[in-house]
Amino acid sequence: MAVDVLQKPTRIVVLISGSGSNLQAIIDAVAAKQINGEISAVISNRADAYGLVRASKANIATAVLSHKEFASREDYDSALMQKIDSFEPDLVVLAGFMRILTPSLVQNYLGKMLNIHPSLLPKYQGLNTHQRALDANDKEHGVSVHFVTEELDGGPVVLQAKVDIKADDTAETLAERVHKQEHIIYPLVVKWFSEQRLTMETDYAVLDGEKLPISGAKL
Ligand code: GAR
Repeated sequence: MAVDVLQKPTRIVVLISGSGSNLQAIIDAVAAKQINGEISAVISNRADAYGLVRASKANIATAVLSHKEFASREDYDSALMQKIDSFEPDLVVLAGFMRILTPSLVQNYLGKMLNIHPSLLPKYQGLNTHQRALDANDKEHGVSVHFVTEELDGGPVVLQAKVDIKADDTAETLAERVHKQEHIIYPLVVKWFSEQRLTMETDYAVLDGEKLPISGAKL
């Protein structure tokens, strides 16, 4: 689909807790002009997150908001919302942000918040997804990018990538292959959003005017 070059760049705020390799993939895609957008800020709940270094190297504003300084999840999320909103984002990207979000935060960004989760949702919501796929003797595993709703790891899927599970895989080797796929599909989904091709209805995602199936878009 042709993209209107006059479309205003999407302002993106990325939330991280750790290494930020998905953040890096999105930084690279913005730099390569594959994404019609700019990363306005990277916010972390952990001061030692390596993703903050990646952001600084790319001259992106950073902020740290430690959850340890707040008495309740509600107080933290309220401060987090203020911080996010100070950068006036069109899109909020969760890239390894390891926090459960309150309903009020989720509602505030409904249809404009994406997450990446290392499983073929709806399988394996929550933690330890690679080990759980191995324990279940699954033949394949993978990763999902989805819109964020109040259900943990439960919002409409936009895109998935699959990897075959090998007989000698460990959680680490599997995670490594899944990670490679993450770095391909997350920038692509952010690109679609930045071109205003991607929206969310109550329980499904829409790409180029087409309702996406529960496993997301077919490439
Ligand atoms: C990624 O594997 C992502 O799928 C996962 O955290 C990792 C962050 O890596 N997210 C979740 O588990 C969310 N439930 P990164 O910091 O290198 O991008």
